Amino acid sequence: MIKSVGVVGAGTMGSGIAKVAAFAGLEVTLVDVSPDLLKSAMAKIKADVRSGVEKGKITATEGTEALAAIHVRKSISDLGNVDFVVEAAVEDLTVKKEIFSRLDAIVAPEVVLSSNTSSLSITAIASLTKSPESVVGLHFFNPATVMKLVEVVRGKQTSDQTVKTTCDLAAKMKKVPVVCRDTPGFIVNRIARPFYGEALRLLGEGVATVEEIDRIVKLEGGFKMGPFELMDLIGIDVNYAVTKSVYEQFFQEPRFRPHPIQRQMVEAGTLGRKTKKGFYIYK
Ligand SMILES: NC(=O)c1ccc[n+]([C@@H]2O[C@H](COP(=O)([O-])OP(=O)(O)OC[C@H]3O[C@@H](n4cnc5c(N)ncnc54)[C@H](O)[C@@H]3O)[C@@H](O)[C@H]2O)c1
Repeated sequence: MIKSVGVVGAGTMGSGIAKVAAFAGLEVTLVDVSPDLLKSAMAKIKADVRSGVEKGKITATEGTEALAAIHVRKSISDLGNVDFVVEAAVEDLTVKKEIFSRLDAIVAPEVVLSSNTSSLSITAIASLTKSPESVVGLHFFNPATVMKLVEVVRGKQTSDQTVKTTCDLAAKMKKVPVVCRDTPGFIVNRIARPFYGEALRLLGEGVATVEEIDRIVKLEGGFKMGPFELMDLIGIDVNYAVTKSVYEQFFQEPRFRPHPIQRQMVEAGTLGRKTKKGFYIYK
């Protein structure tokens, strides 16, 4: 029975996952290499809890108990005793492989090590561990506190027991797990590639503006958010990394090619909502 969860990475996704896990009654240890990001993650979680209490969505006691269940730590070595790990660090295979090999050295072989990667190979992430059967993808969507779907990604060597444990934990977190095979971008991010890619091409060719494309997609397509609003929410850097990763993993398949607009925005540090400037300006 899973009672405690370690979350590696306290950025956009890790902070949301930590909050979801704490509200599911789990003890959470949240780790990040950046003390500043840990501090801002906890400030954001506290503000969200306060707002939930004010709106009457949760009681003050529930809020206090959930906050008390989140423990902030600076090092992965503090995760030796957790029952399950969710890694939500940057979308970089080298970084993730290093994190997984460090985790593998300190947890028991049956502890499930999951990655929230949006696109990278679970099989490759598992490759440096001694227990690849315990490595799985657990892909939450943004915002993790709101979105119901999670993709449970079965790597080449992931065991049935690991998939079951992960699906059970997702259900405990009130999420809806969908199991899929290990393929670049899995299901949702594969489908979403042309959504962003064609919007960027239309913008690059001067066919329409950011606002016009978003408005049309919402008005006529019935989408809740346009592609540019969504890229700003995800983070331009994260979306660019995912695009590059899917493109490379499909042997530079032209239909998945990243757009220079993405690269330029990353170079400029205009990363969307998290930097208050992306395709839109945020106050
Ligand atoms: N942003 C999204 O919409 C979204 C949605 C689903 C999945 N994801 C995936 O979730 C993961 C995290 O994305 P994010 O948007 O939260 O990124 P982010 O940039 O907001 O946060 C990443 C965090 O990882 C930390 N980090 C980097 N290296 C680390 C290490 N070695 N050990 C511990 N912490 C480390 C960074 O300090 C940062 O706080 C990525 O794999 C991404 O593809 C993102």
